[in-house]
Amino acid sequence: MIKKIKNKISTAYMVQNYKKILPFIKPYWVRAVLAMVITIPVGSMDALIALLLKPYMDVVLVEKSVGATAYIPILIIVFSLVQSSLNYASTYLNTWVGRKIANDLKIKLFDRLMSYEASFFDKTSSGEVQFRFNNDVDTACNGLISNIKLFVTRVISSIALIGVLFYNSWQLALIALFIMICALYPLTTIRRRVKDIMKKTVFSGSKVVTHFNEAYNGNRVITSYNLKEYLQIKFKGTLQSVFTLGIKMIQRTGIMSPIMHFIVSIGIALVIWYGSYLITSGDITPGSFVSFIAALLMLYTPLKAMGSNFNHIINSLMAVERVFDLVDAKPNIIDKPETIKPGKIKIIEYENVSFGYTQEKLVLKNVNFKINAGETVALVGNSGGGKTTIGSLLPRFYDVTGGSIKINGIDIKDIALSSLREHIAVVFQDNFLFSGTIRENIILDKKDVSEERLNLIIKSACLDEFISTLKDGLDSHIGERGVLISGGQKQRIAIARAFLKNAPIVILDEATSALDNKSEAVVQKAIDNLMQNRTVIVIAHRLSTVRNADKIIVINHGEIAETGTHDELIDKKDGFYKALYSSSQLK
Ligand SMILES: Nc1ncnc2c1ncn2[C@@H]1O[C@H](COP(=O)(O)OP(=O)(O)O)[C@@H](O)[C@H]1O
Ligand SMILES: [Mg+2]
Repeated sequence: MIKKIKNKISTAYMVQNYKKILPFIKPYWVRAVLAMVITIPVGSMDALIALLLKPYMDVVLVEKSVGATAYIPILIIVFSLVQSSLNYASTYLNTWVGRKIANDLKIKLFDRLMSYEASFFDKTSSGEVQFRFNNDVDTACNGLISNIKLFVTRVISSIALIGVLFYNSWQLALIALFIMICALYPLTTIRRRVKDIMKKTVFSGSKVVTHFNEAYNGNRVITSYNLKEYLQIKFKGTLQSVFTLGIKMIQRTGIMSPIMHFIVSIGIALVIWYGSYLITSGDITPGSFVSFIAALLMLYTPLKAMGSNFNHIINSLMAVERVFDLVDAKPNIIDKPETIKPGKIKIIEYENVSFGYTQEKLVLKNVNFKINAGETVALVGNSGGGKTTIGSLLPRFYDVTGGSIKINGIDIKDIALSSLREHIAVVFQDNFLFSGTIRENIILDKKDVSEERLNLIIKSACLDEFISTLKDGLDSHIGERGVLISGGQKQRIAIARAFLKNAPIVILDEATSALDNKSEAVVQKAIDNLMQNRTVIVIAHRLSTVRNADKIIVINHGEIAETGTHDELIDKKDGFYKALYSSSQLK
């Protein structure tokens, strides 16, 4: 995903990154341009002040008369006032634009995040997601504001100040300019110096966030296994590496500052030495000299500041780069330009399906089976055999590596994702619940569902009794991830969702296996209701569920070992199913 990064900080590099962000600036271009325009006088006023020093020096200090210079003190006050007011206005506008852009980028990335296929989440930690989809955008946009401001003001003020330099003495100006270019040169190498560290910092930074997520999500395990100290040590380790990286960064970027100061001091020394000579020889007036020095000092201030702030600028430019890596990285599982509607479900076919989570290892090989509408197919087999994987290929959580899956003879890759997924309801072993109420968790986005229908669904999902015991009924809060309710209740909420979705195809993946016998019985009843009149793929270890299936498929090491009904398979000598059955893995 990360593209090859050029080493030098060049104008091209900056332009390239700003170009990417340009479409995001576009909706706010009036304000952005206004903020720029305002910075033009802000930048050039330094030069004006420096320029005014010349008549002041020559007339007042040398000729000892006030004359026409009486207006200068007032002008300085007025200029400073105007300058700082404009500065405020531009900061305000820039912040406004910057925040808006950050929001738009986050909205875009949030959308992107939700369109990624399952494999993205397999390999990306929660910390990395938070870091890159949220923090990086802030870093990029905060920097963006200061970058644009810094750049425009600096460039304008530099040009104006250089103008003042040349106006006062072209010889001195040439010396100063030469030294300035020398002083700036080390900055161009900074990116090469910090690139590796930056990459590691992003990695460690996201690890810090992951630590917090794990402390939160895993708090029961942490408490019961007394893992506080163990995790504390790991956390300290990560913080230490962030610290070390931060220090390394300062070492590499901080060294710029003394180098630049040194070069600058040589420049000033040279100018003073040569300037004194020019004054004594009468080539320039003392006023010109003072004005020159003032302009020079003003010119070097931003330069020096850039030396010490440069890692911030680089930081933000590199964040822009990372953000656009994400913006530019398209999800792999997307709709084809032309999609086909499958119509009423008649048949689902897995044809020669093979699949691997990684390129090296196939976890499914040559899987072939058919399910007619209204049939129930049970997948059984040892753990790790590939049952869940078979189920997750149908809604295209992952795409098959070889072969194809067809609904009514149409390859599922030719069906619009939203339509495909509208046809399938999945109940997992552990179903995610959103924070909020039971009602919100069942209806999700289907706001227009009638109260009667909801009541019917609650009955079918065997939730009615439980809900009637709650003070707030359907509107009871379930806590983040449903921590306030039991496993069986969670499963029934998930089943209620599936009822409401009313999809013709249902995939049940060990939906009762995490439950105790008592809750299993009631959840099983809800599942039985859900399975009525639907096409079902059920992964189960309950004999009663499996026995009633129209077809049982035994999966062993990613391959279909046996297919048949319970009665057929149970009679098979040395059969896998028979072995499962007798070892009472099916109860
Ligand atoms: N997200 C994943 N990334 C990589 N490998 C996975 C992933 N999920 C499952 N596997 C591997 O694929 C194989 C099949 O897993 P799975 O379909 O979950 O088996 P089952 O549901 O039959 O227990 C196992 O070897 C498992 O380790
Ligand atoms: Mg499984």
